[in-house]
Amino acid sequence: MSKSFYITTPIYYPNDKLHLGHAYSTVLADIFARYHALKGDDAFLVTGSDEHSSKIVRKANELEVGIKPYLNKIVSNFKILFKKLNVNYSCFIRTSDRKKHWPGAIDLWIKLKKADDIYKSTYSGLYCVGCETFLKEKDLVGGVCPLHNEPPQNVTEENYFFRLSRYKNQLKEIIKTDQLQIIPNKRKKEILVFLNDEVEDVSFSRPKSVNNWSIPIPGDDSQGMYVWCDALTSYLSAIGYPRDKKLFKNYWPTACHLIGKDILRFHAVIWPAMLLSAKIPLPKIILVHGMLLSGGRKMSKTLGNVVDPELLIKKFGVDAVRYFFAAHIPITTDGEINETLVAERYNSDLVNGLGNLISRVLGMAILYKTPIHTGPDFQLVLKQNPWYSKSLDEFDLHKVTNKILEKIQTLDKKIAKEEPFKVIKTNKTQAHRLISDYLQEIWTLSQLLKPIMPNTSQSIQDAFKYKKKPILFRRIS
Ligand code: MSP
Repeated sequence: MSKSFYITTPIYYPNDKLHLGHAYSTVLADIFARYHALKGDDAFLVTGSDEHSSKIVRKANELEVGIKPYLNKIVSNFKILFKKLNVNYSCFIRTSDRKKHWPGAIDLWIKLKKADDIYKSTYSGLYCVGCETFLKEKDLVGGVCPLHNEPPQNVTEENYFFRLSRYKNQLKEIIKTDQLQIIPNKRKKEILVFLNDEVEDVSFSRPKSVNNWSIPIPGDDSQGMYVWCDALTSYLSAIGYPRDKKLFKNYWPTACHLIGKDILRFHAVIWPAMLLSAKIPLPKIILVHGMLLSGGRKMSKTLGNVVDPELLIKKFGVDAVRYFFAAHIPITTDGEINETLVAERYNSDLVNGLGNLISRVLGMAILYKTPIHTGPDFQLVLKQNPWYSKSLDEFDLHKVTNKILEKIQTLDKKIAKEEPFKVIKTNKTQAHRLISDYLQEIWTLSQLLKPIMPNTSQSIQDAFKYKKKPILFRRIS
């Protein structure tokens, strides 16, 4: 039986178009899911939309459209973008889906209540609608939320609370011992430091008078579920919890939650505590990526410094954008991104590097009539290149792209040194032998690139089949 690999992206707020940061999370998850599927695992990728936020209501009201038509339109644009990015998701979960998502969110709530972890109290303090988070004075910079540049609301509300404090010590142990693995280590340390401080219970509902669009609390229609409590449950509902036990059992608890570092606490503290309370096994991994920066600051809609992924796809092609995400920065760090940087990398690595190499080798094979045979399948390539599966099993995409670049450069040098174009004039058999060798190496490259650049990989393999030189990347000035 094949091994299950369940990977999730954060579910995105449909209060605006998605920007490059969102595309980044989704493409990374797609690369890992494709790699696992090619390896023979039963891979399942979930992405989706987080639709009960009060900022959605605010946006729909501003536009004077009904919430549902507004959401349908924007969610359909998410799906169009993911298609353009060649993201092959297994399930797109919408938290407004009353059949697929609500039963899971409600069931979990009931479990928390049964565990005596939900109680009613008064919340008095600050709330940032942008973050959908209750804030403390110490979280503010100059009186505003540093992420959204907006003063928070002052709220006093009668809410249901989740007894998060109860799980502090258990969480510490679970994270320290990697029962819940947080990658990279610096993020694990950050959470352990956070858990050393006092952990307070969290407000888990908001009055319906504040956000009438939220999921009603079972047994109390006057309150709606806090949007994070609702959204986190999508990781379960997307794989059938509680309506399809077989599907759920197939993928849970193999989960790897890929998230940006901005939402680490929700995932590494609140989410596992909810699962502990409900006596549901914990996910295996929380994989935390860094932020894409624009002008030195986190790219975000609020700061107005976003890059539109569609523009980059139009200019460079989808595989170049996917390659850039994998190659530009190690996923665990932050990194600047702009069109100039993409263009530089596109020209050096893809036009001059990969594209030129493929075109030279196939060009020679066609010109000198060297027999062109396809090479090893993906499984065999994995066996021949143990560094590749090791790096991808450790989510180190940067190492993979560096090594692929190294292979391209080594082969370029080899061709320059062995000069098959000269050898052909004196020793045809030897020249064919050399070129056959190069063909095998570029075939291997096409396999290694499959999860990252599926179209390019296919074009290279088609070129072997039809014995035609492919045009992979056109120079862009
Ligand atoms: N809806 C919540 C997530 C709920 S998951 C149960 C949310 N949504 S979001 O639309 O604001 O952002 C989702 C994610 O997009 C971020 O957490 C992060 O993973 C990714 N990114 C948003 N901006 C980003 C960058 N500038 N760079 C990299 N990733 C970024 O939070």
